[in-house]
Amino acid sequence: MTKLAIIGGTGLTQLGDLIIIKRDKLTTPYGAPSADFITGELNQKEVIFLARHGNPHTIAPHKINYRANIWGLKHLGVEQIIAVAAVGGITEAMLPAHIAIPDQIIDYSHSRLHTFFEDENYPVTHIDFSYPYSQKLRSILIAAAAKANINITLIGTYGCTQGPRLETAAEIKRMEKDGCDLVGMTGMPEAALAKELGMDYAAISVIANWAAGKTAGEITMAEIEQNLHIGMDNMAQLLKVFIELA
Ligand code: HPA
Repeated sequence: MTKLAIIGGTGLTQLGDLIIIKRDKLTTPYGAPSADFITGELNQKEVIFLARHGNPHTIAPHKINYRANIWGLKHLGVEQIIAVAAVGGITEAMLPAHIAIPDQIIDYSHSRLHTFFEDENYPVTHIDFSYPYSQKLRSILIAAAAKANINITLIGTYGCTQGPRLETAAEIKRMEKDGCDLVGMTGMPEAALAKELGMDYAAISVIANWAAGKTAGEITMAEIEQNLHIGMDNMAQLLKVFIELA
């Protein structure tokens, strides 16, 4: 059976319905991962869960050890990753509390350790990254949403910013001109590292707020929490059906 992992972001520090079987505390050649890798059963299927920001949520987006996280999952035999992350909505279809399955990425992050391919263990290799997400996993997620009767947006370009601050209104205007529909802080280098190690990777973007400058006034944590609450409930439903179909 193909081994599946779920990486949980803000609002998903633990998988409520996961029946825990074991915890692996790994040390990796790249240092410590964000948290223990939790193997459990979800909807009668085995999955491995990792809290991207640690449990409790303490690791800022730019401090996440993405290489240790992805290397650890590969070491445990994972072949498929579903990455869940909270994002801001930039374009019209990306309504707060709503879910999108992005199909493209623009990376604005910097100074992150972003590749395995730089030493004798992994000699320099230029992976193809034209289509950063697994089309196969995206299709199953889209089918799962239809089956669960959850209204999602089927495509979108994810712009990855450095964080931890949110963006300025001008930055979002520029990102929109560039073609971004969504903005988040953790999609890269995670997606590229998974591809470097030959794993299928797709993302579920849970929209927490309108991005900076898209509404009058400031973005509040209360608004983010309220939208994430609704969005994460739908995401949990989506994951359950996804697991049934995968
Ligand atoms: N910007 C970047 N990351 C985010 C946002 C945002 O507006 N909302 C949730 N994660």
